[in-house]
Amino acid sequence: MKKIVVLVSGAGTNLKALIKAINRKKIKNGKISLVISSNEKAKALTIAKRAKIDTKVIGRKNFDSNEKYQDELFLNLKNENPDLIVLAGFMQIVSKNIVQYFENKIINIHPSLIPSFCGAGVYGIKVHQAVLQKGVKITGATVHFVNEIPDGGPIILQKSVKVNQNDTPEILQERVKKKAEWKIFRKAVNLICQDKIVVKNNKTYVKE
Ligand code: GRF
Repeated sequence: MKKIVVLVSGAGTNLKALIKAINRKKIKNGKISLVISSNEKAKALTIAKRAKIDTKVIGRKNFDSNEKYQDELFLNLKNENPDLIVLAGFMQIVSKNIVQYFENKIINIHPSLIPSFCGAGVYGIKVHQAVLQKGVKITGATVHFVNEIPDGGPIILQKSVKVNQNDTPEILQERVKKKAEWKIFRKAVNLICQDKIVVKNNKTYVKE
Protein backbone atom coordinates (compact mmCIF):
# COMPACT_ATOMS: atom_id res chain seq x y z
CA MET A 1 0.00 0.00 0.00
CA LYS A 2 1.43 3.37 -1.06
CA LYS A 3 1.62 6.04 1.57
CA ILE A 4 0.34 9.41 0.32
CA VAL A 5 0.80 12.85 1.86
CA VAL A 6 -1.47 15.60 0.52
CA LEU A 7 -0.47 19.28 0.72
CA VAL A 8 -3.29 21.82 0.70
CA SER A 9 -4.05 25.50 1.29
CA GLY A 10 -7.69 26.11 0.44
CA ALA A 11 -11.08 24.65 -0.36
CA GLY A 12 -9.89 21.05 -0.65
CA THR A 13 -12.26 19.86 -3.35
CA ASN A 14 -9.46 17.88 -5.00
CA LEU A 15 -8.55 16.32 -1.66
CA LYS A 16 -12.21 15.39 -1.25
CA ALA A 17 -12.25 13.75 -4.69
CA LEU A 18 -9.18 11.69 -3.76
CA ILE A 19 -10.66 10.58 -0.42
CA LYS A 20 -13.86 9.56 -2.19
CA ALA A 21 -11.93 7.62 -4.83
CA ILE A 22 -9.92 5.76 -2.19
CA ASN A 23 -13.08 4.87 -0.27
CA ARG A 24 -14.75 3.65 -3.46
CA LYS A 25 -11.64 1.71 -4.50
CA LYS A 26 -11.20 3.80 -7.64
CA ILE A 27 -7.74 4.40 -6.27
CA LYS A 28 -6.27 1.04 -5.44
CA ASN A 29 -3.18 0.44 -3.35
CA GLY A 30 -3.08 3.97 -1.91
CA LYS A 31 -3.81 5.51 1.49
CA ILE A 32 -3.55 9.12 2.64
CA SER A 33 -1.50 9.12 5.85
CA LEU A 34 -1.29 12.86 6.41
CA VAL A 35 -2.68 16.17 5.13
CA ILE A 36 -0.43 19.20 5.59
CA SER A 37 -1.90 22.68 5.18
CA SER A 38 -0.05 25.95 4.73
CA ASN A 39 -3.12 27.74 6.01
CA GLU A 40 -4.78 27.03 9.36
CA LYS A 41 -8.17 28.19 8.03
CA ALA A 42 -8.21 25.93 4.98
CA LYS A 43 -11.51 24.11 4.49
CA ALA A 44 -9.41 21.18 3.34
CA LEU A 45 -8.45 20.57 6.98
CA THR A 46 -12.08 20.00 7.93
CA ILE A 47 -12.47 17.60 5.01
CA ALA A 48 -9.42 15.61 6.16
CA LYS A 49 -10.52 15.52 9.79
CA ARG A 50 -13.98 14.32 8.82
CA ALA A 51 -12.35 11.47 6.92
CA LYS A 52 -10.25 10.70 10.04
CA ILE A 53 -6.98 11.54 8.34
CA ASP A 54 -4.16 13.06 10.42
CA THR A 55 -3.59 16.74 9.74
CA LYS A 56 -0.82 19.19 10.39
CA VAL A 57 -0.68 22.94 9.86
CA ILE A 58 2.64 24.38 8.77
CA GLY A 59 1.54 27.96 8.31
CA ARG A 60 3.67 30.04 6.01
CA LYS A 61 2.93 33.14 8.05
CA ASN A 62 4.42 31.56 11.18
CA PHE A 63 7.90 31.62 9.62
CA ASP A 64 9.89 34.77 9.05
CA SER A 65 11.49 33.47 5.87
CA ASN A 66 10.54 31.12 3.08
CA GLU A 67 13.76 29.18 3.72
CA LYS A 68 12.77 28.39 7.33
CA TYR A 69 9.29 27.47 6.18
CA GLN A 70 10.64 25.11 3.52
CA ASP A 71 13.06 23.53 6.03
CA GLU A 72 10.18 22.73 8.38
CA LEU A 73 8.11 21.33 5.53
CA PHE A 74 11.06 19.21 4.35
CA LEU A 75 11.63 17.85 7.87
CA ASN A 76 7.99 16.85 8.19
CA LEU A 77 7.94 15.20 4.79
CA LYS A 78 11.12 13.24 5.53
CA ASN A 79 9.69 12.07 8.87
CA GLU A 80 6.52 10.89 7.19
CA ASN A 81 8.49 9.21 4.40
CA PRO A 82 5.65 9.00 1.84
CA ASP A 83 5.72 7.14 -1.47
CA LEU A 84 3.79 9.99 -3.07
CA ILE A 85 3.29 13.68 -2.27
CA VAL A 86 0.20 15.25 -3.82
CA LEU A 87 -0.08 19.02 -4.16
CA ALA A 88 -3.83 19.60 -4.14
CA GLY A 89 -4.24 23.35 -4.29
CA PHE A 90 -1.05 23.99 -2.34
CA MET A 91 -0.32 27.69 -2.72
CA GLN A 92 3.43 27.48 -2.04
CA ILE A 93 6.25 26.54 -4.37
CA VAL A 94 8.15 23.60 -2.90
CA SER A 95 11.91 24.08 -2.50
CA LYS A 96 14.61 22.61 -4.70
CA ASN A 97 15.75 20.41 -1.79
CA ILE A 98 12.31 18.85 -1.45
CA VAL A 99 11.94 18.37 -5.20
CA GLN A 100 15.35 16.69 -5.51
CA TYR A 101 14.90 14.44 -2.48
CA PHE A 102 11.46 13.28 -3.65
CA GLU A 103 12.29 13.10 -7.36
CA ASN A 104 9.30 11.89 -9.41
CA LYS A 105 7.33 11.43 -6.21
CA ILE A 106 5.55 14.79 -6.13
CA ILE A 107 2.57 15.55 -8.34
CA ASN A 108 0.54 18.71 -8.84
CA ILE A 109 -2.76 19.60 -10.46
CA HIS A 110 -2.87 22.77 -12.53
CA PRO A 111 -6.14 24.20 -13.88
CA SER A 112 -5.11 24.70 -17.52
CA LEU A 113 -3.72 22.71 -20.41
CA ILE A 114 0.03 23.10 -19.79
CA PRO A 115 2.07 24.69 -21.42
CA SER A 116 -0.69 27.30 -21.77
CA PHE A 117 -1.60 29.57 -18.87
CA CYS A 118 0.96 28.30 -16.37
CA GLY A 119 4.28 29.13 -14.75
CA ALA A 120 5.36 31.40 -11.92
CA GLY A 121 2.54 33.66 -10.71
CA VAL A 122 -0.16 31.97 -12.82
CA TYR A 123 -2.22 30.03 -10.29
CA GLY A 124 -5.73 29.78 -8.85
CA ILE A 125 -8.34 32.13 -10.25
CA LYS A 126 -5.66 34.04 -12.20
CA VAL A 127 -5.42 31.11 -14.61
CA HIS A 128 -9.10 31.35 -15.50
CA GLN A 129 -8.96 35.13 -15.76
CA ALA A 130 -6.10 34.80 -18.26
CA VAL A 131 -7.97 32.14 -20.23
CA LEU A 132 -11.04 34.39 -20.56
CA GLN A 133 -8.95 37.42 -21.39
CA LYS A 134 -7.23 35.57 -24.22
CA GLY A 135 -10.50 34.24 -25.54
CA VAL A 136 -9.40 30.64 -26.03
CA LYS A 137 -12.28 28.27 -26.64
CA ILE A 138 -10.82 25.22 -24.93
CA THR A 139 -9.12 25.04 -21.54
CA GLY A 140 -8.69 22.14 -19.13
CA ALA A 141 -6.47 20.70 -16.42
CA THR A 142 -3.10 18.96 -16.17
CA VAL A 143 -1.58 16.57 -13.63
CA HIS A 144 2.20 16.62 -13.73
CA PHE A 145 5.25 15.65 -11.75
CA VAL A 146 6.87 18.53 -9.93
CA ASN A 147 10.41 19.53 -10.85
CA GLU A 148 12.35 22.74 -10.31
CA ILE A 149 10.49 24.66 -13.02
CA PRO A 150 7.04 25.93 -11.94
CA ASP A 151 4.46 23.77 -13.80
CA GLY A 152 7.33 22.42 -15.92
CA GLY A 153 7.58 18.77 -14.84
CA PRO A 154 6.62 15.71 -16.90
CA ILE A 155 2.91 15.71 -17.80
CA ILE A 156 0.94 12.69 -16.57
CA LEU A 157 -2.66 13.36 -17.66
CA GLN A 158 -4.65 16.18 -19.24
CA LYS A 159 -8.34 16.76 -19.92
CA SER A 160 -9.95 19.52 -21.95
CA VAL A 161 -12.98 21.60 -20.99
CA LYS A 162 -15.04 23.93 -23.18
CA VAL A 163 -15.01 27.66 -22.45
CA ASN A 164 -18.49 29.19 -22.74
CA GLN A 165 -19.24 32.66 -23.96
CA ASN A 166 -20.80 33.87 -20.71
CA ASP A 167 -18.25 32.34 -18.36
CA THR A 168 -16.88 34.30 -15.43
CA PRO A 169 -13.54 33.16 -13.96
CA GLU A 170 -15.42 31.61 -11.02
CA ILE A 171 -17.90 29.70 -13.21
CA LEU A 172 -15.07 28.42 -15.40
CA GLN A 173 -12.97 27.43 -12.36
CA GLU A 174 -15.85 25.36 -11.03
CA ARG A 175 -16.44 23.65 -14.40
CA VAL A 176 -12.74 22.84 -14.82
CA LYS A 177 -12.64 21.28 -11.35
CA LYS A 178 -15.78 19.22 -11.92
CA LYS A 179 -15.20 18.13 -15.51
CA ALA A 180 -11.44 17.69 -15.47
CA GLU A 181 -9.47 18.10 -12.25
CA TRP A 182 -11.20 15.65 -9.92
CA LYS A 183 -11.28 12.98 -12.65
CA ILE A 184 -7.69 13.11 -13.89
CA PHE A 185 -6.29 13.60 -10.40
CA ARG A 186 -7.72 10.37 -9.07
CA LYS A 187 -6.78 8.56 -12.27
CA ALA A 188 -3.18 9.74 -12.02
CA VAL A 189 -2.91 8.82 -8.33
CA ASN A 190 -4.35 5.39 -9.08
CA LEU A 191 -1.85 4.78 -11.90
CA ILE A 192 1.09 5.90 -9.74
CA CYS A 193 -0.03 3.78 -6.78
CA GLN A 194 0.09 0.79 -9.08
CA ASP A 195 3.53 1.70 -10.42
CA LYS A 196 2.13 2.17 -13.90
CA ILE A 197 3.76 5.51 -14.69
CA VAL A 198 7.29 5.58 -16.05
CA VAL A 199 9.27 8.80 -16.47
CA LYS A 200 11.85 9.01 -19.22
CA ASN A 201 13.45 12.09 -20.80
CA ASN A 202 11.05 14.43 -19.02
CA LYS A 203 8.01 12.60 -20.42
CA THR A 204 5.73 10.00 -18.87
CA TYR A 205 4.51 6.70 -20.26
CA VAL A 206 1.81 4.35 -19.03
CA LYS A 207 2.93 0.73 -18.62
CA GLU A 208 0.62 -1.70 -20.38
C1 GRF B 1 -7.43 23.84 -8.16
O1 GRF B 1 -8.01 24.59 -9.18
C2 GRF B 1 -6.08 23.31 -8.58
O2 GRF B 1 -5.98 23.04 -9.93
C3 GRF B 1 -5.16 24.45 -8.21
O3 GRF B 1 -5.69 24.98 -7.02
C4 GRF B 1 -7.09 24.71 -6.95
C5 GRF B 1 -7.36 24.01 -5.66
O4 GRF B 1 -8.72 23.77 -5.44
N1 GRF B 1 -3.78 24.02 -8.11
P1 GRF B 1 -9.22 22.84 -4.24
O5 GRF B 1 -8.61 23.40 -2.96
O6 GRF B 1 -8.76 21.45 -4.49
O7 GRF B 1 -10.71 22.97 -4.26
